[in-house]
Amino acid sequence: MPGFEDIFNDEEVRAYIHHSNEIMGAIGYTEHGLAHCKRTADICERILRKMGYDERTCELGKIAGYIHDIGNMINRQDHAQSGGLMAFTILKGHGFSPDETAKVSSAVSHHDERTAAMVNPIAAALIIADKSDVRRSRVRDKNPVLTDIHDRVNFAARKADLKILPKEKLIKLILVIDTEICAVMDYFEIFLDRMILCRKAASYLGCNFELIINDIKLL
Ligand SMILES: [Fe+2]
Ligand SMILES: [Fe+2]
Repeated sequence: MPGFEDIFNDEEVRAYIHHSNEIMGAIGYTEHGLAHCKRTADICERILRKMGYDERTCELGKIAGYIHDIGNMINRQDHAQSGGLMAFTILKGHGFSPDETAKVSSAVSHHDERTAAMVNPIAAALIIADKSDVRRSRVRDKNPVLTDIHDRVNFAARKADLKILPKEKLIKLILVIDTEICAVMDYFEIFLDRMILCRKAASYLGCNFELIINDIKLL
């Protein structure tokens, strides 16, 4: 049966992730490369595992996390949908069943906040995993006077910790932000939509969602 390792070791997939990241850099976006893909894959799998989903669903979640941003190679606009179509071809090519191909492709195509929807547990876990990847190393321009607010909030993030607490039915994103670089409210302004989406995704998985920044509970 094909699995995560087959997709992870596929040089063609690796090349598309590389090009997606190059294109994101060319149009001024934060890092969307292998580091973001691997991290999203691991977190997506961890969420599903902690929430008690079966082994195969966890593996499919890891695959969805790994390839979720591959559509940026085509265009940032509608990258979730183009990524979903690419995922469809890639999974079919590796011999995944139509059922599994459909689950992963639809999760990928619903991860972007503009067209997001919790269409299945993998999609819900993917949204939380993707949106919680906030870190300084995603910023390409290391100039301390960062003009872009997205760069500033990522640059300001000293620590981001996602806690999945199934017994408490709670998923918590705990951030430590350097307020010399970015005010807590700057962060909140930019990420409010994403955090509301995380709340919906957590709710789909049967959990509440909390956002804590510098010990202040904001959501
Ligand atoms: Fe994306
Ligand atoms: Fe992403």
